[in-house]
Amino acid sequence: MTFVPKPWPRTLRSQEWFGGTSRDHIYHRSWMKNQGFPADLFDGRPVIGIMNTWSELTPCNAHLNDLAQRVKHGIYEAGGFPVEVPVFSTAESSFRPTAMMFRNLASMAVEEQIRGQPIDGCVLMVGCDKTTPSLLMAAASTDLPSIVVTGGPMLNGWFRGERIGSGTHLWKFSEAVKAGEMTQADFLDAEAAMSRSAGSCNTMGTASTMASMAEALGMALSGNAAIPAVDSRRRMMAQLTGRRIVQMVKDDLKPSDILTRAAFENAIRVNGAIGGSTNAVIHLLALAGRVGVDLTLDDWDRLGRDVPTIVNLMPSGKYLMEEFFYAGGLPVVIKRLAEAGLLHRDALTVSGETAWDQVKDVVNWNEDVILPADRPLTEHGGIAVLRGNLAPDGAVLKPSAASPHLLRHRGRAVVFEDIDDYKARINDEDLDIDETCVMVMKNCGPRGYPGMAEVGNMGLPPKVLRRGITDMVRISDARMSGTAYGTVVLHTAPESAVGGPLAVVQTGDMIELDVPARRLHLDIPDDELARRLAGWRPAAPPPQGGYAQIFHQHVQGADTGADFDFLRGCRGAEVGRDSH
Ligand code: FES
Repeated sequence: MTFVPKPWPRTLRSQEWFGGTSRDHIYHRSWMKNQGFPADLFDGRPVIGIMNTWSELTPCNAHLNDLAQRVKHGIYEAGGFPVEVPVFSTAESSFRPTAMMFRNLASMAVEEQIRGQPIDGCVLMVGCDKTTPSLLMAAASTDLPSIVVTGGPMLNGWFRGERIGSGTHLWKFSEAVKAGEMTQADFLDAEAAMSRSAGSCNTMGTASTMASMAEALGMALSGNAAIPAVDSRRRMMAQLTGRRIVQMVKDDLKPSDILTRAAFENAIRVNGAIGGSTNAVIHLLALAGRVGVDLTLDDWDRLGRDVPTIVNLMPSGKYLMEEFFYAGGLPVVIKRLAEAGLLHRDALTVSGETAWDQVKDVVNWNEDVILPADRPLTEHGGIAVLRGNLAPDGAVLKPSAASPHLLRHRGRAVVFEDIDDYKARINDEDLDIDETCVMVMKNCGPRGYPGMAEVGNMGLPPKVLRRGITDMVRISDARMSGTAYGTVVLHTAPESAVGGPLAVVQTGDMIELDVPARRLHLDIPDDELARRLAGWRPAAPPPQGGYAQIFHQHVQGADTGADFDFLRGCRGAEVGRDSH
């Protein structure tokens, strides 16, 4: 698309605070000068908010302060005025009850931090899973020029000669301990080996997926997603990002210019090619809602269905993000999709160039990491969207992470009422379950958990694991970590906590999963299903007070991105009167 830059110089919004001689202007400048900022920084140059999700309790982002200094260098070099702003940080590894419960809160907080302050453009410094969508959603709702720079992934994990990936091997080793194939002492030894450098998860989990989505959407500079956190080129990328945002403000290149339907379609196809996380579905649906792009679950199925997964990374494949970077990273994937006619080449990016312009000359340096077209990891990557009487509003499954022999399966339901019920009974040797059964878990959706935790990849019962079985069909309204794998049906909607059909599944019911036909069916008579639904009552009273109450009252279903109803849409950056 053609973007016409606005003329420069012109008066920016930060001048409402800094550009004048009134008492209020003096007040705003004077207090800022207590930090030693010289007078010329307030002369009308772009003021860039470095929205930094640094936190020592968000370990994947704990190096962002260092990286922010590089962003500042770049902003100063390009003639801008950088101001670093700490913002709400959500750690996937430790935030309870789940980081996802706070994605919307973070986005709301950052949106107001942008709108209410003298900021002309933003650098979104993100990394861990929810930090990326939350800041993108905030930027989309304010629509000031914004650019993403991620913290980058951790280096490869290595344990006793084996490449081990964040999350993926946590699940693998934990199952191995349950199956008696690994000792607890060895598991403890592996703990530090998994996370041996700064950065986010080194698998194609949600953090790497969302970094890839930011790049595929055109919201980050080309090549950003895969550079390891500790590689010197990550610092270079941060500095270049700082330089670029200043020009974006001068040109008035905004998220609404970039986040078009074409951009979302590109991102969905890229997600299929990288074997990306199912979490991308939720986050992109929510982001699209902020910019008024009518994206649906069915777009995910339609656009991703014929995209082969060509990135051979865990959890679907063999390698890790470090090797993806050495092979050429996401630009190679984008080029391959464009050459296959699967990409909108003219989609605009933060660089001011089109998606195609940025990648047309890149080279694939390792065809075992980024696979050639004739030997993809899976022929049909993407996300399968299932429907049926068990999921009238849809459910998702990641075929590249599933077992081919289970993609068509009929089995007896073994139902867990919630995560506590699952934990209490799964290790019981008397539990009536075998590998032909379908594990069902309720009350783990947006309202039910609350927050829609990543518990959908329920670990298998030990007695099944001991027989060498590593996968079973699992169904829930939960999410799954992007680092996880298995034949796992997720995001079932409507969720059980609002009375979706999942709420009335009973142990012993037969369930049919048919991924090629995109079908999820509870095999009971219609009148029986209607009778059960009519008799359904919520399991728990709604939370009273605080953020939990706001969350419960306003969170929407997974099928539309689990955003708050009142946060959808772009509210712009206009702000009311000054307080003085
Ligand atoms: Fe932070 Fe995986 S836990 S990126």
